[in-house]
Amino acid sequence: MKPDRSKNFPVNAGDETEPSIGTAEMPVAFIVILALLIFAGGMFLSSNGGGFNSTVYGQYSSTNELAALAPQDEGNKQFAQGREVYGRTCVPCHQPSGAGVPGQFPPLVGSEWVQAPKADRIARIVLDGLQGPIAVKGTDWNNVMVRWKEVLNDEEIAAVLTYVRNEWGNKADAVKVEDVKAIRALEKDRNEAWTSAELLKIADQ
Ligand code: HEC
Repeated sequence: MKPDRSKNFPVNAGDETEPSIGTAEMPVAFIVILALLIFAGGMFLSSNGGGFNSTVYGQYSSTNELAALAPQDEGNKQFAQGREVYGRTCVPCHQPSGAGVPGQFPPLVGSEWVQAPKADRIARIVLDGLQGPIAVKGTDWNNVMVRWKEVLNDEEIAAVLTYVRNEWGNKADAVKVEDVKAIRALEKDRNEAWTSAELLKIADQ
């Protein structure tokens, strides 16, 4: 039996149609605007997108790679090479901080030997080593430093000396490769470590 809804929802005569779901046509203007937007977006991408080429979107894989491309003057290059040489040859004894190890390895930071006007003495120390008593910054040391003649070439020695002369607050002129070469040639017959007494006879200015 059909329920008599007029009891609960009184309706006026002639107002009995219920709302219904249907479809209506999309306005043509909307489709046209959408098409124009897609077209404009495509134009923008093709003129600014660089063809999605990897040389546009992925040139560099790290900031280090970028930094390596930054223009460098000769001094920076030598200093960077010196840091690398220091890291693989001098660090175990003189330490990353250049402070050495008390009682064993003297400091390079603040050292008057390292910051002498000329590198004639320290170039000899690195080439042939050093042994016996030496005073550094008012402290006496008495140990042995190995020689690097056979391991490091002139360019590497000039670089590492330039590095230790200008790192940790040290300040002194860069060391030229020719100077190291000249000292190596001059001392080519030497076959033992230097003593500080011998070195003090060599002019350092
Ligand atoms: C195996 C340890 C060792 C290594 C590696 C070493 N040194 Fe030394 N270095 C010493 C010792 C020990 C002395 C002091 C020697 C002495 O008492 O006569 C010294 C002394 C020095 C001095 C003079 C004193 C001073 O403190 O200023 C300089 C300069 C120096 N070293 C530079 C270097 C450089 C540059 C390198 C790397 C190429 C290097 N050393 C690698 C142990 C080392």
